[in-house]
Amino acid sequence: MQVLNVVGARPNLMKIAPLVEEMRRYPDIRQTLLHTGQHYDDKMSQVFFDQLSIPRPDIYLGVGSGSHAEQTARVMVAFEKVLLEERPDVVVVVGDVNSTLACAVTAAKLWVPVAHVEAGLRSFDRRMPEEINRIVTDALSDFLFTTSRGANEHLEREGIAPEKIFFVGNVMIDTLHKHRARAEQLGTPACLGLRPGGYALLTLHRPSNVDVPEVFSGILDALATIQRDLPILFPAHPRTVKRIAEFGFAERLATAPDLRIVEPLGYLEFLDLMIHARLVLTDSGGIQEETTILGVPCLTLRENTERPVTIVEGTNTLVGADQARIVAETRRILAGEGKTGRVPELWDGHAAGRIVKILRDWRGG
Ligand code: UD1
Repeated sequence: MQVLNVVGARPNLMKIAPLVEEMRRYPDIRQTLLHTGQHYDDKMSQVFFDQLSIPRPDIYLGVGSGSHAEQTARVMVAFEKVLLEERPDVVVVVGDVNSTLACAVTAAKLWVPVAHVEAGLRSFDRRMPEEINRIVTDALSDFLFTTSRGANEHLEREGIAPEKIFFVGNVMIDTLHKHRARAEQLGTPACLGLRPGGYALLTLHRPSNVDVPEVFSGILDALATIQRDLPILFPAHPRTVKRIAEFGFAERLATAPDLRIVEPLGYLEFLDLMIHARLVLTDSGGIQEETTILGVPCLTLRENTERPVTIVEGTNTLVGADQARIVAETRRILAGEGKTGRVPELWDGHAAGRIVKILRDWRGG
């Protein structure tokens, strides 16, 4: 079986790593790794290849940044040529970034079967670009690998044949389990002058939070209040750094000395910081899931989530971009009222094994 694995952006890398590793175990699988180049900075891409031992991509499309249409179109044009040359038996796409959508559409039109890992997540908010990517990718996929039973229900409701849907667990959690012990010993908080259990970890990059000055400003006010009680470490995404400069927020940040911005971190350092954080504030998708597994309270700065299992079963709470709510929920956690949660079904470190077994059974492996 020839498998073409696709990655494009940072959150794809921790998902593809266990799949590549699992596929390597089988001599009957020939795999090619393709990187679209949606993310290209070393800190957004290369460091994850190094730390997660992902082999160097066989094919690099180098599409870079652009508007949604530009980026998606560039991936499609370049990926079509690759597919015509490689003719894989299946294309594996993960997550919900523009590269995921672009490769799924291109493959489906060339009648190449598509396997979507992390299918069926829905925020029901189409103003979120990822929601459109999810819906289209799922509609075109032949194998839909899900992380929760709720995702299966979404897909069935959208008319997807049940025999295409497989509840397999969470590949990103496979990666977390594999690296947790190593990460925990790095001493990252101390290296950054932080006391384990004595800081909040923050990430923020959603367009809805950082592209609108009024919204971003309100969030910064909340953070300025919180940092008086608890230091905040903020590894900032390049998009966010650009907006801070564009909106002239740098001076305001200078008046909040314990809200500290640093460059994006490697996977292991960030995991170490999550493990030892008092709480995590984020608008990321994956971090909601990782904090659930780690039992660390997570406040999600969004109005909705495509990962409700992290709220119902895990440590996640939605706080939106509302200043008062962000501060109040933080104080609740500091008062010892944070959620502890439990591990969702099949988030056990073996999702990649289940996926590869299904693909091999399909090809009679
Ligand atoms: C993308 C994904 C988002 C994911 C996020 C994780 C889509 C629609 N969005 O958002 O789901 O949560 O990745 O990071 O696919 N930039 C750099 N260096 C890079 C990459 C980007 O400086 O290596 C800057 C560029 O100014 C670029 C901007 O960040 O325009 C946004 O990058 P883009 O890939 O368009 O989207 P993300 O915001 O990273």
